Amino acid sequence: MAPAAFIQTTEKYVNPMSNHSINFIYLVSATLFMLGIKYLSSPRTAKRGNILSMIGMAAAIGTTMATPGLHGFTLIITGMIIGAVIGGYTAIKIKMTAMPEMVALFNGCGGAASALVALAEFQSNTGGLDSFTLTTLLLSLIIGGLTFTGSLMAYAKLQGLIPTRPVTYPGQQVVNGIIVLATVALSWFLFQNPTSILALSGIIILSLGLGVLAVIPIGGADMPVIICLLNSYSGLAVSMTGFALKNNALIITGSLVGASGIFLTKIMCDAMNRSLSNVLFSAFGQVVESTDDSEEGPTGSMKGFEVEDVATILTNAGSLIIVPGYGMAAAQAQHATRELGDYLGDQGVEVRYAIHPVAGRMPGHMNVLLAEADVPYEQLFALEDINDDFSSTDVVLVIGANDVVNPAAKSNPSSPIYGMPVLDVEKATTVIVLKRSMSVGFAGIENELFYKDNTMMLFGDAKSSLQKLVAAMK
Ligand code: TAP
Repeated sequence: MAPAAFIQTTEKYVNPMSNHSINFIYLVSATLFMLGIKYLSSPRTAKRGNILSMIGMAAAIGTTMATPGLHGFTLIITGMIIGAVIGGYTAIKIKMTAMPEMVALFNGCGGAASALVALAEFQSNTGGLDSFTLTTLLLSLIIGGLTFTGSLMAYAKLQGLIPTRPVTYPGQQVVNGIIVLATVALSWFLFQNPTSILALSGIIILSLGLGVLAVIPIGGADMPVIICLLNSYSGLAVSMTGFALKNNALIITGSLVGASGIFLTKIMCDAMNRSLSNVLFSAFGQVVESTDDSEEGPTGSMKGFEVEDVATILTNAGSLIIVPGYGMAAAQAQHATRELGDYLGDQGVEVRYAIHPVAGRMPGHMNVLLAEADVPYEQLFALEDINDDFSSTDVVLVIGANDVVNPAAKSNPSSPIYGMPVLDVEKATTVIVLKRSMSVGFAGIENELFYKDNTMMLFGDAKSSLQKLVAAMK
């Protein structure tokens, strides 16, 4: 909640007469954002959530534009048009599988915007800022700066522009610690010497550098966690800008993004079996080199099958759990998946779907795709609700999933995904895996599941394999 002083004293930007109505509309916007977030938590209501949030944002922007004393409309509107065109074009063009990259870039834009606003405030009020405003501007500059470069690094890693693997070197945490201390020291110096351009430049350079150095040791399957965390940071930076500008809409919106981002980070940490301190202070996601020379690759032999063999197994099953993964998204096979599920359901097979929290490339990726294909919600089960049922299931159909069904997460301490909860699919009587080749998944590691005695591999594009299976069964 914003301190009462901000609600009453914004004379620098608005006159007292319109203050109440402006803050009232900001409050309505904030309520719409909160309802929006609530509705976004279920695919059933997500569309409504988006619409409410859009109305809230339009109201907040409109109110800010109507604030008495606001100048530079041409510049503001030009910026808004450029932003809207870029945002609209990206939203239409972006592939669902490239969402994390887009989120990373947008987080970076949020951080950069906060840092730039803070910088502009420093420039126009050199030496004349009270200590509270100076503190919030500095926080906005530092958090915004590190969010910007950290997000660019995350984007580059996800796009494969730089190595995805964690980059580590001796004394990495000490170096990061020294940078944090130097930033604090320079901030303290700036308090004593508010006109020091040198101190301000040093703070900017250090925070930009910190963003890069904080993200390079993170990689592999752990990238979703850092993207959520950067999302939260971008919200914090916006909130700090709001305090500095004495704008309640920014304070509340930034806090909402910061809080929901940190909750999502916590959910992702739990899904990856990492603690938040582990995320913040260790080079996690790193492949630990095995010291056991006798350790070899997966044992057993891979067995490829034809469509007809797999169709026979499926039609004879009494119970089936479908496990979708990134490959289902890449193949756009969600409709074919539902068709197969519906067909077998009609034949009396008990059909359920097991959803791993980090299957695909963004939180809720599988839920969104299956909802788009109208798979009934009652057939969808989260990892913790279905994991005990695999041992009593006849057939598991893995559609383009790899890391989330890799038993190495439970058995191999040197694996980069060791400790991540995975779906215990290998416990079912028969496991059928649909993928195109023996290629690895996101974490870049072999999967012993594919070599197990009860696993049948059906190679090919997931959508085409599913369509052939349905045709063969019919
Ligand atoms: P992955 O481990 O990435 O495996 C996907 C598999 O799909 C690949 O082995 C690939 O094998 C197969 N595939 C790709 N295109 C296909 C197609 N057209 N038809 C059939 N198969 C296809 O996927 P997962 O099991 O869903 O795990 C997700 C991974 O991504 C985790 O490591 C997770 O940490 C990470 N991650 C998740 C998120 C979020 S928030 N969900 C964000 C970023 C990263 P072939 O090439 O042989 O076909």
